[in-house]
Amino acid sequence: MYLTKEEERTYDGERGWTDQTCMKILVRLGELFNAAKLVRISSAHVSGVSYKTLGDAPAEFLETLANAGGKVRVRATLNPQSFDSEYLGRRLEQSLREKQLNVLKQFARMGFTESLTCTPYYLRKPKRGSHLAWAESSAVVYANSVVGAWTNREGGPSALAAAIIGKTPDYGIHKPENRLPKILVNVSTSLRNESEFGALGIHLGRLLKDEIPAIQGLGNTPETCLKQLSAALASTGMVNMFHLNKGAQTKTERLEKINVETKDVRKTVESLSTREQSEPDLVFIGCPHCSLGEIKEIALLMKDKKVNEKTEFWVCTSQCIKEKAREYVAQIEKSGGHVLAGVCTIVSWTEKLGIRTIMTNSAKTAYYAPTMNKAEVTFKPLKECLATAIRG
Ligand code: F3S
Repeated sequence: MYLTKEEERTYDGERGWTDQTCMKILVRLGELFNAAKLVRISSAHVSGVSYKTLGDAPAEFLETLANAGGKVRVRATLNPQSFDSEYLGRRLEQSLREKQLNVLKQFARMGFTESLTCTPYYLRKPKRGSHLAWAESSAVVYANSVVGAWTNREGGPSALAAAIIGKTPDYGIHKPENRLPKILVNVSTSLRNESEFGALGIHLGRLLKDEIPAIQGLGNTPETCLKQLSAALASTGMVNMFHLNKGAQTKTERLEKINVETKDVRKTVESLSTREQSEPDLVFIGCPHCSLGEIKEIALLMKDKKVNEKTEFWVCTSQCIKEKAREYVAQIEKSGGHVLAGVCTIVSWTEKLGIRTIMTNSAKTAYYAPTMNKAEVTFKPLKECLATAIRG
């Protein structure tokens, strides 16, 4: 892989051990994928921030990088952690809290923004055509497909290395020729809510593996539904983007075609529930993290209602959106719900809180919670989730 003189000096250790280590990670990755060079990025987003999913060895590696003076060169944001300080933090054992806080401290020492969200595009939207190194798969698909930015699906270490160097290897979806659709998906059914868009993503992820689709038949889809589609598509497959084929802009005549019918979506919806709907321990909304508009919608639906006292009701978002949504947060909390900033169900210790059954409108959470949270799941759209939170 071609390196500039400056990159070579970094590789040889002239800018210190942390930069050298990070450059070596990027060069190794680039050589693995036959990248010709590194490309500048405008931002990096690191996953593997929750101590629950990270564990001790990576946490120690972060500390070593920070001790050696590592500093980010671009805007660098972080995925959710394992608790929020206001609600879940108070219910967790001290030792876990300390370990999580130490992870955040190491990131802060290196200059990472404590965004703690999987929807960093709500905090600052990347420019169309800008190169990124993002590691949260739901955000990767959304950034490529909806925002129009360019990012591979990074792992935690490569996104971290890219943040420190300010560059990423120029391969995969950073090349225009690798962004073209390979398959035409015709959706011949009307999707009725965000959960059905998530189910479509789960179904397509399994079928497409890593083939970029042009999807037709979705009409004018709300952003929140595209977010659910993005998160779910990345859960079951390795696809990093999709095109919405609304007419002439994508040439599709020669592409292989697949059809998605009502029965495919319904069957996937059913398969994502492991239990019948009845008094879940937790009703969870906010995977991926909620936008301001979603929190407003929830607040309006919860107005003058009370959450059943046997049920926990969590709405997850970033601290930044929570602050902007103050009025709606107050409404949700008045009804007995909790708006949690910087955390989500999947990366938190729900088992330690006695949560065994979860109801959610998110296909991604429904897909992962049985293994990540050892929980039974009921998968339903937002309004049914809220009705259950109220009824218990
Ligand atoms: Fe975000 Fe957690 Fe879902 S990180 S995409 S809310 S699993």
